[in-house]
Amino acid sequence: MKSYSATLSATTIFMLKTDILIIGSGIAGLTSALKLARKHPNLTITILTKSSTDETNTKYAQGGIAVVNDMENDSFDKHIEDTLIAGDGLCSKHIVEIVVKEGPERVNEIIDWGTNFDMDKSGTYLRGKEGGHSEFRILHHKDVTGAEIERALMEEAKKHDNIKIYNHWFVLDLITQHHLGYLVTKATPDITCYGVYALNLQSNCIEKIPARMTLLASGGVGQVYRTTTNPKIATGDGIAMVYRAKGRVENMEFIQFHPTALYEAGISPSFLVTEAVRGDGGILRNKIGEAFMKSYDARADLAPRDVVARAIDNEMKRAGTEHVFLDCRHMDEKKFLEHFPNIYSKCKSIGIDVSKDMIPVAPAAHYCCGGIKTDELGRSSIQNLYACGECSSTGLHGANRLASNSLLEALVFAHRCAEDIAERIEKVAFCNEIPDWNVEGTSEPREMILITQSLKELQSVMSDYVGIVRNDIRLRRALNRIDLIHAETEELYKTSVLSPQLCELRNLITIGYLVVKGAQFRKESRGLHYNTDYPEKSPLLQSITL
Ligand code: FAD
Ligand code: SIN
Repeated sequence: MKSYSATLSATTIFMLKTDILIIGSGIAGLTSALKLARKHPNLTITILTKSSTDETNTKYAQGGIAVVNDMENDSFDKHIEDTLIAGDGLCSKHIVEIVVKEGPERVNEIIDWGTNFDMDKSGTYLRGKEGGHSEFRILHHKDVTGAEIERALMEEAKKHDNIKIYNHWFVLDLITQHHLGYLVTKATPDITCYGVYALNLQSNCIEKIPARMTLLASGGVGQVYRTTTNPKIATGDGIAMVYRAKGRVENMEFIQFHPTALYEAGISPSFLVTEAVRGDGGILRNKIGEAFMKSYDARADLAPRDVVARAIDNEMKRAGTEHVFLDCRHMDEKKFLEHFPNIYSKCKSIGIDVSKDMIPVAPAAHYCCGGIKTDELGRSSIQNLYACGECSSTGLHGANRLASNSLLEALVFAHRCAEDIAERIEKVAFCNEIPDWNVEGTSEPREMILITQSLKELQSVMSDYVGIVRNDIRLRRALNRIDLIHAETEELYKTSVLSPQLCELRNLITIGYLVVKGAQFRKESRGLHYNTDYPEKSPLLQSITL
């Protein structure tokens, strides 16, 4: 073993040490924490989040949570079938069955914890429908379901003394044998996570946080694109950290573009117009008013997302427009207002009266179907490291996620991770040899523009060359440009005092690289990945692991 002497640095102060460390305070992180706190009241459970606690993708979820809760009209088999069809051959049937069948119990738990889903006067849950669903099965809280779930989970978390939530802590890297001085490669069989290094944004100190078990619930990657529904926090940090630590990441080429983000030039993130609006009768129309979806797919406006987003992209390119329209003028205004008050008032605020005007909409990057590869218990390829929620790739979504399946997946896998962690933690000890973070040789970056401009370049490259429709030349160009931004950013990283902006840029460059490499390896068109040089599906069904 190579000997290692820790580098001491004046700015590093040891503070936190925790049995279980959870990175992220969205549905996945909070649910796992709650489950663990109940099982193990004597263990410390620490949640780190880089922004305020509720600034998460979860908070912005609109449509709801897909779950079979009406056995008379719906069935597990139908939900399983819809998920498999959307996933276009790449879902793990076993995982789909687990999520669909365990889903109702998990959803009942968050109802018990205080989540309110809309009901009719008789107390029956109102169920919405979205693209790719054969039945009405989406439980919702008006058009702000995610905010309601986040509220309920946060309130429940406050009841547990052994859950500590630290806001404004930016996790930089996973600690593995690499930091103890060992050589770690993709071929190392027992890469182990001992905790993380994190930047305390209040003190500006980088601290080591030893943990016996670590769970990544760090969310999505939408910010790698210029136009996205994801808030600023969605920079793929967890996925990039696992890739840097030589863990397995898969299927990153499957980026889901939501068909109907509100079109507002220059506004980021884009405001979502939930698919549930089409479920309630909204119709997509092109520049000349044609209801064009019928000519693309028999399921018309409620075809799966990949089909609808490609159709809109095609209509926009044909007409040379920046958006199409969602027509809700024929819908009952009172009902619209009841189900979609947030969308109604957002439209009103920019001068659109949904009862008289059509809503301008365009596709926007929305969801990362791939991510950190996990097994059916949420274990990553790195020992003592789990992943769940949007940062993970469990096998549920395959090549295209079925609408409203991600909140469900997060609940089911938060439970599974917690069960496995609870069972194994007694056998796992802290690592006592973790060195402090080395800040020697770094100084304040001279110009923020070096970071902001590179981010804009990256987002443009990804949007222009690695969007809804791809081809080999575009992907090659994208990779060349990402290589250049990568080299410049690594130079900056090595010599700069770290800031969240610089670290997020670095993580997003890794995400861009993984999406492009995945797309280059996939010599076919399937689900969300459409390459005009390989328009057909390959008979070889495979996940692409990087
Ligand atoms: P998030 O909720 O995104 O939480 C991520 C957490 O990780 C945050 O707390 C963040 O601060 C933290 N974090 C990240 N990096 C770091 C770091 N370096 N250091 C410290 N903390 C870090 N899905 C559905 O099923 N139904 C819907 O109706 C629906 N609607 C959606 C609408 C919108 C507008 C969006 C954007 C998504 C929607 N989705 C929907 C998708 C769904 O909301 C997300 O996939 C899900 O909420 C992700 O939850 P999560 O817990 O994995 O991550
Ligand atoms: C929506 O409400 O349209 C988003 C649902 C989802 O992303 O699952």
